[in-house]
Amino acid sequence: MRTVDLIRKKREGGEMTAEEIAFLIDGYCNGEIPDYQMSAWAMAVCFRGMTARETADLTLAMARSGEQMDLSAIRGVKVDKHSTGGVGDKTTLIVAPLVAAAGVPVAKMSGRGLGHTGGTIDKLEAIPGFNVERSRGQFIEQVNKHGLALVSQSGNLTPADKKLYGLRDVTATVESIPLIASSIMSKKIASGADAIVLDVKTGGGAFMKTLEGSIELAQAMVAIGEQVGRETVALITNMDEPLGFAIGNALEVKESIETLRGNGPADLQELCIALGAHMLVLGKRAADFEEAQSLLREAIGSGAAIAKLRELIDAQGGDIAVVDDTGKLPGAAKVVPVIAESKGFVAHIDAESIGIAAMLLGAGRATKDAAIDYGVGIVLRKKVGDPIAEGDTIADLYAQQADEKMLQEIAVRVQAAYRVEWEAPARKPLVYAVVT
Ligand code: URA
Repeated sequence: MRTVDLIRKKREGGEMTAEEIAFLIDGYCNGEIPDYQMSAWAMAVCFRGMTARETADLTLAMARSGEQMDLSAIRGVKVDKHSTGGVGDKTTLIVAPLVAAAGVPVAKMSGRGLGHTGGTIDKLEAIPGFNVERSRGQFIEQVNKHGLALVSQSGNLTPADKKLYGLRDVTATVESIPLIASSIMSKKIASGADAIVLDVKTGGGAFMKTLEGSIELAQAMVAIGEQVGRETVALITNMDEPLGFAIGNALEVKESIETLRGNGPADLQELCIALGAHMLVLGKRAADFEEAQSLLREAIGSGAAIAKLRELIDAQGGDIAVVDDTGKLPGAAKVVPVIAESKGFVAHIDAESIGIAAMLLGAGRATKDAAIDYGVGIVLRKKVGDPIAEGDTIADLYAQQADEKMLQEIAVRVQAAYRVEWEAPARKPLVYAVVT
């Protein structure tokens, strides 16, 4: 087989065999196929696409390129969840203990944040003492004992995806549905999931800006799941504003605790129940979505959900006192209000700008190795649909910085992220569609 022939085949719209795809992925991983040939092939995929069968074969080739987690020692159906990334998205912190409290084991590996979106692992590390590093044995033992473990991605999972994603990033080949779908699904498959619930964000703050594109991506991922025997459900959800009110690590932990007690923001609570209910159905704990929703509401109402969070924090060495006293979480030196300059109704909040503002305060990293400050961030005081008057506080900046000029610049950025209109905007659904 020659790489040049495979590039030509794809360029001319041909359908590649499983062997040809494996040849490309294996050769790229072991250094036999150079970047320039792989980027030519990725560009051909961007133009010509891939069939569902090819996409599944690409996914499996990438999943097999490194270590694959074997979770068979954990009892029950292991259902993973994945979000395509949003601002203020702390759903894992809520859904994982919620679903575990309702009886489905959650063995989850998560990542850190980069750029304007946060990462679950950084949020967990805002809890004093919480240890995200676990050996494979400890991870499995903890899930069997407590029904739940949340750890940092370790080992050598999907090296092909890491290498190919890095290349796509600099060759304008990220925006291809089969390449995105296989990239995401290969990681879920390698981390041992039996079934997968996907939260595909759509809108201004999302990776996929249009509903049509998001549905297409969701369909491609559900089709991969079907082809490789991992039942997959995808929810298309609104990212026209950040999720909940809080953006920033400790602030998001606090909001997650409130949500597990039943006192969280309406959008966050609704999304967590929806994602969790699909997990319970896939995990065979509930016969249908309605039954699953009531099991989750019961887990919140009875206190089982918050008790499960406490159990998780304890099992991973964290300070459980934060659950009853969130004042023990890292804090900020000052709170700076951001003031509305016009009146009307909030029509849109640009999630990406808010994410960048939080990063500038120190809540996120601009580069992979940058340090973060767990106590800082932004709390939105007004959300889409809310009426505002001149002089109202629309958000609070939780800051450590003494640099007033910098804080002023961040406040202006947050102000600019709000689009205010005369008329109240039409209400958009939080969950646009469910793809099965
Ligand atoms: N996220 C991924 O993991 N991969 C992509 O290709 C795009 C977004």
